[in-house]
This record gives sequence, structure tokens and C-alpha cells, in this order.
Amino acid sequence: VRTAAIVVAAGAGERFGSRKQFAELAGRSTAAWSVEAARGICDVIVLVVPPDAVDVAHGADVVVAGGATRAASVRAGLAALDADVDVVVVHDAARPLATPALFQAVVDAIGVDGVVGAIPAIDLVDTIKRVDDDRVVVETLERSGLVAVQTPQAFVADVLRRAHEGDPEATDDAALVEAAGGRVVVVQGEPDNRKVTTRDDLEVARALLAHR
Ligand code: CTP
Ligand code: MG
Repeated sequence: VRTAAIVVAAGAGERFGSRKQFAELAGRSTAAWSVEAARGICDVIVLVVPPDAVDVAHGADVVVAGGATRAASVRAGLAALDADVDVVVVHDAARPLATPALFQAVVDAIGVDGVVGAIPAIDLVDTIKRVDDDRVVVETLERSGLVAVQTPQAFVADVLRRAHEGDPEATDDAALVEAAGGRVVVVQGEPDNRKVTTRDDLEVARALLAHR
């Protein structure tokens, strides 16, 4: 089985205030940590970056320019893959604390019992409510059966390519595969594998890395 990773790092980091994926974290860029986690599990690693940042590889094998949305950036990564890739693992550069074991877990789940997608998730501990535009509570959701989803997300390569046909938008790739009727399963996510969104998140990641 030939496995490729697509690490998406072409965002603007608006909530962070700059391109968070290139912020320094314990001696290397945040993106470099995310690439490093895929090393050893994936045969080739494609990093997708803003068009003006293709000159730095951050440890990846191939660097390509991304698009205006995350989904478009994933498609740019897909376009750079050889046709003989069997499994694609999509990972956010903004999740530098994902471990190689998590990459292995999602890859291992593919192909078992007709599974075409495998994604890490953790059980919710907080009560979840829906609110309206005025922040008034509309309903309290039944927490059982709800999970919080992370990357890396692994897919049968052809299934992911087909799910992206017609340039659909979604916040993760699994949503596109689910919409196409593909069987996607959840594997145990990692509590530390949070997405860096704000400056505080980067400090938390720095502290967690110092403990490793
Ligand atoms: N991403 C991307 N291409 C885009 C938008 C996002 O490759 N056009 C990547 C980001 O670099 C990040 C991941 O997708 O690694 C998750 O996106 P998000 O956390 O939303 O990052 P940003 O879009 O950069 O942040 P913000 O939404 O605050 O601008
Ligand atoms: Mg974004």
C-alpha cells in the first residue's frame, strides 16, 4: 500500500494574527512538526502553502501552492500526488502535536470492513448547546453520540479524489466522503492534538512539547 500525506498549511491565520503554521515552536516551525509526525508512516509528504511561500519545504518532499479555502488547498495537494497512491492522509499543519501513532491508527483502519475513511475523534465532556445570533440558547443537544473530530484523516485515495470532484466546500474531508455515502469510522483521538487557533494555543502547544 502506497500512502501519501497532504499537510495543509495555506491558511492566513486570521484569528491568530499571522500565518500560525509558520510560527516557531520548540526550534522548528509549527508546520515542520506536523510534517514530521507523518514521516515514517507515509511514503511521500506534500505540503500545501500560500503561493508566496513555496520556497521553504518544512521537511516535506513536495511543496505546492494552496487555494482560497481549506478544501481548495486539499485539492491542490491531491493534484500533486502520483496516480499509484492508495491511501491519502490529510492533516492540518496547525495541529503540530499529532503523533506518528495517530497517523498509523487512521491508516490501519482503512480497508477493514469496507471502511474508506478513518478520522480521530474524542468524546465530548462539556454539555453542548445550540445558540442563536443573539447568543440565546435554542436547545441542549444530546451529548451521547457526539464526538469532536481532529486530523490526520485517512482515506482511500480514489474515494477522496471523487469526493472532491465539483470543488465542494466543507470544514473537513470526512464530511465530503460521508456526503458521497462512504463508510467513515472514528479512531481514538489524542487530547493534546488540538488545533492552534490563537496565540494562547501556541503557548499551550509549546508547554506540551516541552514535556515530551
Ligand atoms: N488552510 C489551507 N488553506 C486555506 C485555509 C486553511 O491550507 N485556504 C489550512 C490552514 O493552514 C490550517 C488548516 O487548513 O493548517 C486548518 O485551517 P484553520 O485552522 O482555519 O487555519 P487558518 O484558515 O489559517 O486560520 P483562520 O481561519 O483563523 O484564518
Ligand atoms: Mg480558516
